[in-house]
Amino acid sequence: MKTRIEQVRSTLADILKPEQVPEIKESEGRITVSVVTDVPMGQKPGFAEEVKRRVGTLDGVKEVFVAFQAPAQADAPQGPAPLEGVKRILAVGSGKGGVGKSTVAVNLAAALVRKGLKIGLLDADIHGPSAAIMTGTRNHRAAADEQRRVIPANAHGLKVISIAFLTPPGQQAVVWRGPLVGRMVTQLLTNVAWGELDLLVVDLPPGTGDAVLSLAQTVPLSGALVVTTPQDVALLDVEKAVEMFQSVRVPVTGVIENMAGFVCPECGHETHIFLQGAGEKAAKKFNLPLLGSFPIDTSITPSGDEGTPIVFSQPDGAPAKAFAACADKMMARLDELASASAGTVNLTWDA
Ligand SMILES: Nc1ncnc2c1ncn2[C@@H]1O[C@H](COP(=O)(O)OP(=O)(O)OP(=O)(O)O)[C@@H](O)[C@H]1O
Ligand SMILES: [Mg+2]
Repeated sequence: MKTRIEQVRSTLADILKPEQVPEIKESEGRITVSVVTDVPMGQKPGFAEEVKRRVGTLDGVKEVFVAFQAPAQADAPQGPAPLEGVKRILAVGSGKGGVGKSTVAVNLAAALVRKGLKIGLLDADIHGPSAAIMTGTRNHRAAADEQRRVIPANAHGLKVISIAFLTPPGQQAVVWRGPLVGRMVTQLLTNVAWGELDLLVVDLPPGTGDAVLSLAQTVPLSGALVVTTPQDVALLDVEKAVEMFQSVRVPVTGVIENMAGFVCPECGHETHIFLQGAGEKAAKKFNLPLLGSFPIDTSITPSGDEGTPIVFSQPDGAPAKAFAACADKMMARLDELASASAGTVNLTWDA
């Protein structure tokens, strides 16, 4: 009798060559099929559903996940180059603006600094340097080291670089066109004296586009976080963000739900303004872990506006604890992705 794994292989045999299915994992009726393909998933609608449909009809299969992998290319052009001394780079993005990317990026970075790690924060939002404002480094003026690399600002031990440092005082970030944004992001990454870092967190500008592309072309990214708000309609934005990272072959580390409820500043009671569990639903839909869920907390905005992230200003408060727990999960997931990928990039997608 065929084993379950053999049955999965046979049912996929006429749509996938054996070498395209390098791995099938099974755990309590939950099957994960790795599929190697160089076709961007957006251009192959229905493919994952077909794999799931076929495997799902096998006896004893409760759930099916499809993990796409990009093929290893022997003749691939010179890819992104690592930054010397920087162990990992993580991008924080979303499908739309204003969901709390900068708040999450800054506070996760701060939580990791509090754990004793060496962390950098790159504010790649050319149009509105919120991360610089939130870390109190807005008025920092860039100085260069002897190798003419920009020295990052120091915010409570967090190394911060922002486009704001390179803009003359009083001058607002101009409206820059795409290619210039890309070049600026590359400069901000590579021309900086980062020193030794365990992790460099990149706070992306809203939406899809040039900054992400330049980032992925310049350096190898260990992962990306997708931040979302909890409404059902935000699923579309999560999908957009996941697709954006997939299109540049960056593994998505997980989903973070922000503004998931309201904490009353008087009594501490949490009210769920939107549907509960929307973040969980979004994460499940894309076969990604939900790494954190943060309620609206009135102490977060003033803390950011005053230039001290809440993790530093109120280290014993509930938000700081929640960010610390999320940071732990995120680092564990980065470790997991690093050991799983071993040379290839894993793109997970659950139709
Ligand atoms: N959980 C929260 N509780 C209270 N306020 C929050 C929370 N998350 C974010 N905010 C506030 O919401 C506003 C928008 O957040 P933030 O700037 O982090 O969003 P963003 O996604 O980075 O925006 P953009 O797309 O413009 O870069 C800020 O004033 C921030 O202080
Ligand atoms: Mg922002």
